[in-house]
Amino acid sequence: MVRKCLFPVAGYGTRFLPATKAVPKEMLPLVNKPLVQYGVEEAVEAGMSFMGFITGRNKGSIEDHFDKAFEVETAIAGSSKEKLIEPVRALIEENEFAFKRQNEMKGLGHAIHCGEVMMGDEAFGVVLADDLCIADDNDEGVMAQMVKIHEKYGCSVVAVQEVPEENIHKYGVIAGEQEEDGVYRVSDMVEKPAREDAPSNLAIIGRYILTADIFPKIAETGAGVNGEIQITDALLKQAKEGKVIAYKFRGKRFDCGSLDGFVEATNYVYERFFK
Ligand code: UTP
Repeated sequence: MVRKCLFPVAGYGTRFLPATKAVPKEMLPLVNKPLVQYGVEEAVEAGMSFMGFITGRNKGSIEDHFDKAFEVETAIAGSSKEKLIEPVRALIEENEFAFKRQNEMKGLGHAIHCGEVMMGDEAFGVVLADDLCIADDNDEGVMAQMVKIHEKYGCSVVAVQEVPEENIHKYGVIAGEQEEDGVYRVSDMVEKPAREDAPSNLAIIGRYILTADIFPKIAETGAGVNGEIQITDALLKQAKEGKVIAYKFRGKRFDCGSLDGFVEATNYVYERFFK
C-alpha cells in the first residue's frame, strides 16, 4: 500500500509570467479548480492519504487552499454554492497535508530529496501537478494504475508516454525490456536528450512511485542537465539495479506547464465535465 504522496511545487512557473508573478503555477485554475487539486484528487483516488508539499516563497496560497476558509464558507453556508467547495472541504477533512520549503531551486531531484523526512522509509507517490492526467470513462486514474504496478513488481515506477521525435528533448527518456503489455524494466534513462541520442520515444511524465532508497541515491547525485539535480539521474542508479519499471498508462495527459497544453486541457475539461 502506498500511503503518501509528494507534490514538488517550488518551481517558478516562468512560462506563465506575468500570471505567476504572485500566483503559484499550481494554483492556476482549469475552469474553476486549481491544477494542484486535480493532482491531490488523483492521489486520493489511488488510496493515498498523506499529501506532502515541497513549496517555496510565494506559494502560501497552496497551503491556504488546503485549509478551511472561514469567511467564504460562512458567507455561502446554506446556499447552492456550497456544493462548489464541498469536494475540497472533504479532501481537507479526510487527508493530512504537510508543507516544507525548498529554499533554493536546485532541481526536481533536490525538491524530492527535501521530502525525505515527510516520506520516511516507505514507497511514496510523486505528482507534478502541472502534468494533468484525466482518466478515461469508467477507468481509474494514472496513480491508481501505478500503485497496482508497484504492488506487482515491488520497485519504483515511472509513468511514460510515447512522444513525437521533435518533442523528445523536453523529457527524461527510457530504454527497457518489455515485461508485459505497456510495462518495461528500465535499463537506461537520459534526461532531455538530443533527438538523435534518445534511446526510445518513451518519455517520463510527472507521475512516479519511488522506493525510499531513492533518497541516498539523490544525495550522491551531482548537478546534471541545466545545472540541476535531476531525479532521472538518481532513478538511473535504481534502474542499473533492475529496480525501475516504466508504465505506459491509460488515460489522457496534458502538459499544463506549457501555454498550449494548459489551453488544450482547459477546453477538454470544460467540454467533458461542464457541458
Ligand atoms: P518545471 O521546470 O517544469 O517547472 O519543473 P517550473 O520551473 O515551475 O516552470 P517553468 O519552466 O519556469 O515555466 C517541473 C516540476 O518540478 C518542480 C516544479 O514546481 C514543477 O512541478 N520543481 C522543479 C521544484 O519543485 N523544484 C525545483 O527546483 C525544480
